[in-house]
Amino acid sequence: MSIGAARQHSGRIQHRGLRAKVVSAAEAAAHICPGDNVGMSGFTGAGHPKVVPQALAAMISERRGRGDDFRIGVWTGASTAPELDGALAQADGIELRLPYQSDPISRAKINAGTMDYLDVHLSHVAQMAWEGFFGKLDVALVEVAGITEGGDLIPSTSVGNNKTWIDLADKVILEVNTQQPLELDGMHDIYYGTALPPGRRPLMIVRPEDRIGVPHFTCPPEKVVAIVETEVPDRHTVFKPIDEGSMAIASHLIDFLEREVTSGRMPAGLLPLQSGVGNIANAVLAGLGQSSYRGLTAYTEVLQDGMLDLLESGALRFASATAFSLSPTGAARFNNDIGYFRSRVLLRSQEISNHPEVIRRLGVIATNGMIEADIYGNVNSTHVMGSAIQNGIGGSGDFARNAYISSFVTPSTAKNGALSCIVPMVSHVDHTEHDVDVVITEQGLADLRGLAPRKRAQRIINNCAHPHYRPMLQDYFDRSVSGAWGRQTPHLLSEALSWHTRYLETGSMRSSAWRV
Ligand code: COA
Repeated sequence: MSIGAARQHSGRIQHRGLRAKVVSAAEAAAHICPGDNVGMSGFTGAGHPKVVPQALAAMISERRGRGDDFRIGVWTGASTAPELDGALAQADGIELRLPYQSDPISRAKINAGTMDYLDVHLSHVAQMAWEGFFGKLDVALVEVAGITEGGDLIPSTSVGNNKTWIDLADKVILEVNTQQPLELDGMHDIYYGTALPPGRRPLMIVRPEDRIGVPHFTCPPEKVVAIVETEVPDRHTVFKPIDEGSMAIASHLIDFLEREVTSGRMPAGLLPLQSGVGNIANAVLAGLGQSSYRGLTAYTEVLQDGMLDLLESGALRFASATAFSLSPTGAARFNNDIGYFRSRVLLRSQEISNHPEVIRRLGVIATNGMIEADIYGNVNSTHVMGSAIQNGIGGSGDFARNAYISSFVTPSTAKNGALSCIVPMVSHVDHTEHDVDVVITEQGLADLRGLAPRKRAQRIINNCAHPHYRPMLQDYFDRSVSGAWGRQTPHLLSEALSWHTRYLETGSMRSSAWRV
């Protein structure tokens, strides 16, 4: 469909007054002004607006050609897709982006210093918006699957911060996407009880399947300034093929969980699972699918293909999340069998899917990807060589800090072995040693619970480091223990980040002295 053309209404808009507000994408985009903050739907490539951001990008480029510096603040749930982040970044239309993004064009602009990026814990975004930390929200631009006769909005494949954007914004623009199956209706649980302190009440979720809200968003029809009908699919992430290393990581985690069950520390059906974004986290889920577990549950942020496999096989009984993040084949499987998944999946606002209170109460087993860990178990999830953003912290901090068991996974090396993912000191800290219980690479698993720092270091070096880097790490650690002025968490400060500088200077973290 041309983004400039108005369409006949599809029958998805049951409210008569709102039906009259259907316009073209370009007409809808014209409601957005330079300097506006726009709260957009979208989480891990699901449920984002598909056509208005492109029309807006075209308008921005055209206005820039006439000398206008047209930039906006873009607030979302999490990452979106080329037609949103990519298009607006390409047009140099984003002044500030928050809270999580993974778009390559935006990443380049952020790392070049031409776009501001505010990387916030995903559970904190709604309350910070209500508190006004990000400024005023002018427009909400939200994809929905339909509008009921009474004017309620049927959410699509992600919930994210949509409730907050619709409540806070002066103007609401809706994209009604007929590609999103109407059977999604009823799969959401939108909670309207959040408040700022001191007015907060306990969240009555004691099992992942507990509902505390309503299936639809409420929005006064008079706030809606434009509606655009679309028929464009979600982004649909393509995952890397699951390799031997990922399978090894999965089997270390599964062996560990089995030992927890055998030792009586965990029930036979485990505790609710959380699984992070990315290829490795997805592969770990595939590994769980080949284990003998049945009747598991998930209290997680995104549902990747691996979760779908577990639901299909019956290994997973129920999953609560805020969004889907499926491959094209995963999405086709979901749509074909939506009747089966409807009773097994629940999507909530991200302030609830990632809520510390609930994560702590349920005793979630968290598994997240990382860029690197250091010998003491501090984790860097976000920055390459300490300075360049890869994606963002996403919900990893929400889960790691509050989980019953917080594990981080990575291959032991990256870039064909030129980088060790276990380093003397991380070049950026997202999760401190206090929030990291277990580190896993294809080499093995380091259970750090109950260990003082020097014992943690020895276990990470022995169990997780790649054999090419293990002697270098051991040498660094031994010299730190004997040379540092403090023996609690010994470091040689003049060398602690030398592996990173060596990589930047030579293209490899391996020192010539240690090459075999
Ligand atoms: N140093 C530099 N770069 C590294 C690295 C290291 N130690 N380790 C990995 N990378 C690079 C890889 O080479 C790859 O780059 P490429 O795309 O140019 O090939 C990229 O990081 C992704 O690595 P990959 O091994 O494919 O891992 P992944 O897809 O599992 O993603 C994270 C790993 C950390 C980037 C990802 O999990 C993430 O963004 N996490 C933060 C958010 C989060 O945890 N959300 C979950 C909350 S519920």
